[in-house]
Amino acid sequence: MCGIVGYVGTGKATPVILDGLARLEYRGYDSAGIAVIEDGVLKVRRRAGRLAQLVESLKLEPIEGSVGIGHTRWATHGAPSEKNSHPHCDCRGDIAVVHNGIIENYQELKNQLEARGHVFKSETDTEVVAHLLEEEFTQGAPSLVEAARRALPKAKGAYALGLLRRQEPGVLVAARLGSPLIVGLGSGENYVASDVPAILSRTRNIVYLNDGEVIELTPTAWKVTDLNGVPREHPVSRIEWSVDAAEKGGFEKFMLKEIHEQPRVIRETLMGRISADKKSIQLKDMNLSVEELKSLKKMFIVSCGTAFHAGYVGKYLLEHFTNLPVEVDLASEFRYRSPKMDKDTVIFTVTQSGETADTLASVRAAKAKGCKVISICNVVGSSIARESHGVIYTNAGPEIGVASTKAYTAQLTAFCLFTIYYGKLTGSIPDEKAADMIRQLEGIPDKVDEILKDQAHIKALATKYAQAPSWLYLGRKFNFPTALEGALKNKEITYTHAEGFAAGEMKHGPIALIHKEMPILCIAPRGETYEKMTSNIREVGARAGRIICVATRGDADIAGISEDVIYVPETPEEFSPILCVVPLQLLAYYCARARGCDIDKPRNLAKSVTVE
Ligand code: M6R
Repeated sequence: MCGIVGYVGTGKATPVILDGLARLEYRGYDSAGIAVIEDGVLKVRRRAGRLAQLVESLKLEPIEGSVGIGHTRWATHGAPSEKNSHPHCDCRGDIAVVHNGIIENYQELKNQLEARGHVFKSETDTEVVAHLLEEEFTQGAPSLVEAARRALPKAKGAYALGLLRRQEPGVLVAARLGSPLIVGLGSGENYVASDVPAILSRTRNIVYLNDGEVIELTPTAWKVTDLNGVPREHPVSRIEWSVDAAEKGGFEKFMLKEIHEQPRVIRETLMGRISADKKSIQLKDMNLSVEELKSLKKMFIVSCGTAFHAGYVGKYLLEHFTNLPVEVDLASEFRYRSPKMDKDTVIFTVTQSGETADTLASVRAAKAKGCKVISICNVVGSSIARESHGVIYTNAGPEIGVASTKAYTAQLTAFCLFTIYYGKLTGSIPDEKAADMIRQLEGIPDKVDEILKDQAHIKALATKYAQAPSWLYLGRKFNFPTALEGALKNKEITYTHAEGFAAGEMKHGPIALIHKEMPILCIAPRGETYEKMTSNIREVGARAGRIICVATRGDADIAGISEDVIYVPETPEEFSPILCVVPLQLLAYYCARARGCDIDKPRNLAKSVTVE
C-alpha cells in the first residue's frame, strides 16, 4: 500500500515527483525517497518520516534530471527507517527500484542472490528486484525493459514497480502484478503512479495496466507487453474526477473505498502466509518457538472497539478448533480486573493503529508479568508492534475512515491464519482439515467481491430503514461478534442507537425493547446454530419487530420469517464472519448517507485513541 510516482520527459523530474507524492500523502506514510538520473549519474535520496523531511533535504541539496521515480512507504518488511525506504538499488548503483506490494519468496531469492555475491543494504523484500535485474544484465539483457521481463517471473507475490537504469536516461519502466499501477500520458512527458490523484494535475489521460504487464515509457512513446514480450493493446481513458474524488478512487467517501478494498486486503493478508503446497501456514514475525507455542496454557485477547470484536471471533475460532482456553478482554478493563497470567500465558492484542493507549498499557502490564505478547497489527513500527514480542501484520494499508472496515476483515483473516497454524502445530487440526480450511480461506476474497457487486439491494434497504430510531443486531457463535460489530458500525456513523446481542440472550431482557418500528438485523448463515437462530428470529418476529436477515444464498426458508433478506455466498461457518460483516458495513454506510452524517469523520470520534 505504498505510493509510487515516476516521470520521464524533458522537464524537471524532482518537482513533479514530489508533487505527486504529496498528493498521495493524505494516506499517511512513514518514509519517502526519490531516484533521479542527473548528468549520467543515478542519484538517490531517502528519508524516514513524513515527505516534508525529504523535501527539506532536497531543498538543501537538490537533485535534478528529467527522469525519476519516487516512493512513499507504508512499511511491511523491515522497520520504517531510512535504509528500508525506497528506492532500492543493485550492488553497482546502476538500477533503482520502487515497489508497492509483497514479494512472497523474497527470503529464498535473497539467500540465492547473497550466495552469488550480492550485498543487500536493507531488510526489505523489494531490494531483491534490483539485484535480480542486475543479474539479467550480467547475463546479457539488452535493456531495462527486457531485464524486467526476464527477472520478474522469478518473483512470486504482488508488485507494482517503477524502474530506472543509469545507462538508459530517457527510459522509465514499470510493471504490475496484483498491486495498483496506472500510467499518465502527457505532452512530451509521461508518468506512472500507484493512484490517479498523484498525476491528475498534470494529465487526465490514463492507461490502466493489467496484471502481468510491463511498460516502457519515453517522453513521447509508451509500449505495453506481457512478460514474454508480446505487445498488449490498451485504450486511453479520460478521467473526469475532481482531485478530491480521485483521492477516494472515485468513491464518495474513504469508508466506501475501504469497504471495496477488502477483497484485495484479505488477499494481501493471506499473501506469503500459505505454503507453496497449500498445506500449511507460515507466520514469520511471530517470534514464538514451536516449544513455546506448544507449552501455552492460556490466551487472553485484548483490544478495543472493532478490534475487540475481531478478538471475539478469534476466541470462537481458537476454542472451536484447538484446546487452548481463550478469554477476550476490553483493554480498558484488562489491567483493572487482576487477570492471572504467567510465562505460559500468551496475550494477543489486536489493533489497527498500534497506538491505542489502553491496548498499549495492556501490553506493558502483561510483559511485566512475564507473558509473551503477540499483536495483530496494521502499522509496522507502531508502539504496540515494537513493544510486542511478535506480530502478525495485517496488510490492510492505511485506513482513513474513522469507522474501521478493511482493518477488521484483515484482523479476522489473521485470526483464521493463526488458528490453522496453531491447530496444525498442536495436532488439533488434522493435516487434511488444515488443507481444506486453507483452500476455503483462499476463496473468501472472491466471495467478498460478490457481495460488493450486489449492493443495490442493500442501498434500497438503507432507504427503507435509515430513519429508524433504534436497532438490534442478533447473532450466535462465530457471528455473535458480527452482531456487536454491525451495531457499532451503525451507531458510530449514523448516530442511531444500535445494540448487538447474542440471540439466545433476547429472552433474558432485551426482547422487552422490541416494537413494530424496530429493525432487528439477524445474522443467520448456515451452520451449527442455524436452527437455534431461526427459532430466536421467530420469537422476535412474534413481537412485531421488523426482521432483516443476513443468510446463506439459496436459503429460501429464511424469507418466510423475515421482512427482508441479504444473501451472502455459502462458506464454512468459521469463515462466515468475514462475509457477514460486509453487508452490515454497507448498510450502516448507506443509512448514514441517507441521514446526511459526516461518514469519514463522525462526531466526537478520533481515528486513533491515544489517551485512556
Ligand atoms: O487502532 P485500534 O484498532 O487499536 O483502534 C481500536 C478502536 O478505537 C477502533 O476499532 C474503533 O472502535 C473504530 N472507530 C471502530 O470503527
